Amino acid sequence: MSLHIGILTGGGDCPGLNAVIRAVTLALIHGCGARVTGIRRGFLGLITREVQPLDEAAVAGILAQGGTILGTHNRADPFHYFGAGGGDVSAGALAYAAELGLDGLVVIGGDGTMNIADRIMQAGLPVVGVPKTIDNDLRHTDRSFGFDSAVAVVAEALDRLETTARSHGRVMIAETMGRYAGWIALEGGMAGAADVILLPEQPFDLAAVAERCRAREAREGYTLVCVAEGAHAAGADLTVAQTVAGSPDPLRLGGVGGVLARQLQPLLHSEVRATLLGHVQRGGSPTPFDRVLATRFGWHAAQLVQQGRWGRMVTLQGAEISSVPLAEVSGGNRPVPPDHPLVAAALGLGTCLG
Ligand code: F6P
Repeated sequence: MSLHIGILTGGGDCPGLNAVIRAVTLALIHGCGARVTGIRRGFLGLITREVQPLDEAAVAGILAQGGTILGTHNRADPFHYFGAGGGDVSAGALAYAAELGLDGLVVIGGDGTMNIADRIMQAGLPVVGVPKTIDNDLRHTDRSFGFDSAVAVVAEALDRLETTARSHGRVMIAETMGRYAGWIALEGGMAGAADVILLPEQPFDLAAVAERCRAREAREGYTLVCVAEGAHAAGADLTVAQTVAGSPDPLRLGGVGGVLARQLQPLLHSEVRATLLGHVQRGGSPTPFDRVLATRFGWHAAQLVQQGRWGRMVTLQGAEISSVPLAEVSGGNRPVPPDHPLVAAALGLGTCLG
């Protein structure tokens, strides 16, 4: 009898999710005649019993679409359910998967989603994982799809902010996503020729940032700053926009760009303005790079399913698509190392890096 495989997307939306859904679906249908079912809104669909059939027609035209046709949810953990009858509802979720006749799941998500996927696997439902995070901070994979699209947005934003910076002789600050890892700010800042790049990994020195801006005031007349939402001055706390009770990750960051603008203003002659890029970085169509990476990830995930190599997450290591055990993925992120070649290059160009 042919395989019946479920697919779900967990955590935040991300450009390229639909490209993975399409690739997994087509590769399983063409590779082994599998039946494919989409689980709605992450693991929530297994709890609330919401699914949709996926076939060639269902995935037609979705490759370039942002978001996820399946919907997603970042608080739907069957082992700690927030809803009515909450607590551990995993037995019910697994019973529903058995009723559907699922032989396994392809789970697309980040650190938290992979952690749940690993526990689902241990509870008896086979899983293959596909890494997703625009922050590019999942362990064991050099890249995740969505990151390139986010970097493209940051680069374009800096290009546009440069216009005002140069015309008015201002310091323009762009705040990017990146809670605990500064990959988006580093690559986006480099692509957009930022003069100051501030990462969560290295607490920054306000005096050094002001010094860099003053030097540019005197010479070029304007400065571009790219700051990750998780960046903070030495000894200062994270800038929290909102705390969401009951969320596995309750701190919603945001606003460090504005804080920095207020702190810098008295130290400079030129006007300082901040722009928060926020979810603009996560929306819209994936770049061609992300479309191809997401498609390769999806195809490889389908291969793992067909080979019965369950309990693994697809990775990109160098130029090679590979995989690692799911259990090794969660429980930590992948920060920018201080000796990373991009850090060295930025510093070598005179960028103020914090
Ligand atoms: O982890 C990806 C990410 O986009 C972070 O960079 C950001 O802080 C967070 O998600 C925002 O999540 P939400 O949309 O749930 O507030």
